[in-house]
Amino acid sequence: MTINDLEARVDPAAHGTDADATVAALVARSNALGSDPRITNHAGGNTSATGTDTDPVTGEPVDLLWVKGSGGDLGTLTPAGLAVLRLDRVRALQHVYPGVEREDEMVAAFDHCLFGKGGAAPSIDTAMHALVRAPHVDHLHPDAGIAIATAADGPALTERIFGAKVVWVPWRRPGFQLGLDIAAVERDHPEAIGTVLGGHGITAWGDTSDEAEANSRWIIDTAERYIAANGRPEPFGPVRPGYQALPTEERRARAAALAPTIRGIAGHDKPVVGHFTDTDVVLDFLASARAEELAALGTSCPDHFLRTKVKPLVLDLPASASVEDAIARLHELHEQYRADYQAYYDRHADEDSPAIRGADPLIVLVPGVGMFSYGRDAQTARVAGEFYVNAINVMRGAESLSTYAPIDEAEKFRIEYWALEEAKLQRMPAPKVLATRIALVTGAASGIGKAIATRLAADGAAVVIADLDLGKAQAAAAEIGDTDRAIGIAADVTSAAAVERAVQETLLHFGGLDLVVNNAGLSLSKSLLETTEQDWDLQHDVMAKGSFLVSKAAAKVLIEQGLGGDIVYISSKNSVFAGPNNIAYSATKADQAHQVRLLAAELGEHGVRVNGINPDGVVRGSGIFASGWGANRAATYGIDEQDLGAFYAQRTILKREVVPENVANAVAAICTADFSHTTGLHVPVDAGVAAAFLR
Ligand SMILES: NC(=O)c1ccc[n+]([C@@H]2O[C@H](COP(=O)([O-])OP(=O)(O)OC[C@H]3O[C@@H](n4cnc5c(N)ncnc54)[C@H](O)[C@@H]3O)[C@@H](O)[C@H]2O)c1
Ligand SMILES: [Zn+2]
Repeated sequence: MTINDLEARVDPAAHGTDADATVAALVARSNALGSDPRITNHAGGNTSATGTDTDPVTGEPVDLLWVKGSGGDLGTLTPAGLAVLRLDRVRALQHVYPGVEREDEMVAAFDHCLFGKGGAAPSIDTAMHALVRAPHVDHLHPDAGIAIATAADGPALTERIFGAKVVWVPWRRPGFQLGLDIAAVERDHPEAIGTVLGGHGITAWGDTSDEAEANSRWIIDTAERYIAANGRPEPFGPVRPGYQALPTEERRARAAALAPTIRGIAGHDKPVVGHFTDTDVVLDFLASARAEELAALGTSCPDHFLRTKVKPLVLDLPASASVEDAIARLHELHEQYRADYQAYYDRHADEDSPAIRGADPLIVLVPGVGMFSYGRDAQTARVAGEFYVNAINVMRGAESLSTYAPIDEAEKFRIEYWALEEAKLQRMPAPKVLATRIALVTGAASGIGKAIATRLAADGAAVVIADLDLGKAQAAAAEIGDTDRAIGIAADVTSAAAVERAVQETLLHFGGLDLVVNNAGLSLSKSLLETTEQDWDLQHDVMAKGSFLVSKAAAKVLIEQGLGGDIVYISSKNSVFAGPNNIAYSATKADQAHQVRLLAAELGEHGVRVNGINPDGVVRGSGIFASGWGANRAATYGIDEQDLGAFYAQRTILKREVVPENVANAVAAICTADFSHTTGLHVPVDAGVAAAFLR
């Protein structure tokens, strides 16, 4: 078929002239397919539609291709995520195509085919969508499809399972040539509805959007049914005694005990955020006799390499091994992993290759316990884990029918260190100042703590909000964003067990801990004679003891991780200023202030900095002021409670009211590298109170 024949097939009457309807159908289909992880992995695969719009320059109809843009996710795709190209021009590229050796140049050529501003950046897969003549095309990474695609006898299986409807296309790195290969299948096999792409995934097509989706689903469902009906039992081998999943509580406690060490391992070259997964898919794989051998073969689908690296690190000890033994062995395996990875890089890199991006694993598997996955932020870490679950499903499918045979190592390297991928990484915006840092802020459902949590998250930290009431903590977290950015947990800092649990939850959700803010507090303003023993105990339990317990539990993690860290105390002007009616509160604040100095001296050798903030007169948003303290203070000064903030402002040197965000700004600043050489410091955030000057 010639280009002219091609054009003839894109008949405006047949495909509708309503560009909006075409786009709406494409987005709906993409969302339906992309919302099922069985069908495609996060941000994996792409879909397209061709149709007609009016060229605003000529007023004439123009044939367009809408295709998911680079890096987008099908499940959440919107019209803004589509690249829009002129079909005649993008198809005409085959006349200037310089051959497979220089196919990467074609990506830049896509920019010359854009319609208007072109929408999202066209991805490498744009070629397959343009060159296949059918107006609607899906390219997907379904577990069952990749199982066939990575089976040693994939071509024969494809024929056996799908007959003439689906044609095998041998592995080829995504690009213009793969698009030509798929287009040739479509041309030469009129009865075909799609292809299995060796080592990679599937591509299907249809004359309508519904037909393309039905064809994609038919391929996936047929593959799944075939595997279910014909696969051998126990494709991963029998259960390996001692490697079965530990009971839930024990498993999670073990995961939390290992998490700091493993994050330190994954973050040896550059810091990472973690995610923990202990679903049955992972635990069953790890309990099987062949887990190590199969994991060593590595993943296959091209999307995986940047997210999971070629292969995971697998702890080769049974679940019954002690934590100490597991940690010792993990360190040995880490050394080995790094040496292997460096050797892999050296085997394949040439003078044009991008520099090695770090030799640490991104997936760490612990039999009986689960999987730790890592990335530059919590979302990336979670998705890396989802990818490895896909990889396990793929291996199970391939091994139940045949032998799992992923693409070979040189090809894996070509993907991982592809110049185009490197360019994408280079184009990524610079990370935020607190990116990869995992923060735990106590008492953060309200007032100053909430402002601190919000600010740390805005600066890129993953944040855990711990407070007395779970609902309030979760609501505060939800205001910040989804659970990749912030979570809320219940923790009473006066209880050592509750504090341990809070740290454990932090480790299980974000994989580590870097930054702790001791903010939980409350205030009773009473004279010495009015202060009861209970008042005294409560103030001291929440603030002096509470921050001691939190610092202790956190420091254990910080030391094990070996990545340094920050502990910040929200103490108070009252830790140094003496006035009446404040014995319990100010005494416990002074205790906290001295904890800062003591711990700065003790934890410095581990790279942990400990600093304090001394706020004063923060009325707005403060639960302390709202619940009686404010009324009491106002009465003491003979003013209206609502004027208290302004009253305090007039007492300051700067005549400014202090708000929670001022305190949050100071916390954020002191945790940055700009203060890398500062520990044991207290920063007043009080608009200037001479009586509380530090000396
Ligand atoms: N507001 C001020 O002017 C001011 C001045 C100096 C210091 N501070 C300090 O700032 C911190 C925050 O105060 P705020 O003004 O935002 O008050 P706030 O009442 O708005 O916030 C304190 C939070 O701590 C929580 N909390 C109390 N006891 C807890 C416990 N046992 N475990 C866990 N969480 C607990 C509360 O539920 C509340 O959400 C306190 O340590 C306070 O002493 C405040
Ligand atoms: Zn793909």
